[in-house]
Amino acid sequence: MTEHDITLTVNGTEHDLSVEPRTLLAHTLRDELGYTGTNVGCESTLCGACTVHMDGDAVKACTVLSVQADGAELQTVEGLRESGTFHPIQEGFQKEHGLQCGYCTPGMMLAATDLLEENADPNEAEIREAIEGNLCRCTGYQNIVNAVEYAGAKMRGDDSGPGTETAAADGGVPTTDYEVVKIDEAAKMENDI
Ligand code: FES
Ligand code: FES
Repeated sequence: MTEHDITLTVNGTEHDLSVEPRTLLAHTLRDELGYTGTNVGCESTLCGACTVHMDGDAVKACTVLSVQADGAELQTVEGLRESGTFHPIQEGFQKEHGLQCGYCTPGMMLAATDLLEENADPNEAEIREAIEGNLCRCTGYQNIVNAVEYAGAKMRGDDSGPGTETAAADGGVPTTDYEVVKIDEAAKMENDI
């Protein structure tokens, strides 16, 4: 099959390559360029595991042909971390326990950052709507919502957001209400002994 020369800029790095016209962007990112954080699940736009940013918007890379992305600026989950520092959404998923198996996580993070770039202070309903095209089999979604709220608060510099209040008050550990409750219980047990 005839191949086409394309240029993709991924996380700021330009790549020149040749692809067959039928090649999906998800496969080019993973198999040709090694950005394996772009997961592939359904290959039919249902699960969102393959979500990346294309020219600033979240797209599902399993339903974009690589030739359609010629000349585009792409961001994958690998591009969220800057200079060794987690992006607030990565920090939020870590602190709010927003993942279990992690398969949906890259796509969730990119769907969430797309939302936060358009709406710095989304409410819970807006967050749930923004991630409705991303399926998670493990978490039940609430901790993912909490993680997005955490990231929004951090990006706004709002110390009163979920998780950030306790982090600011105690120097960073513990960071979630769940951990605070567990530590309070442990302290009470020590006093009882
Ligand atoms: S693999 Fe792309 S939406 Fe499921
Ligand atoms: S953490 Fe397992 S699918 Fe979401």
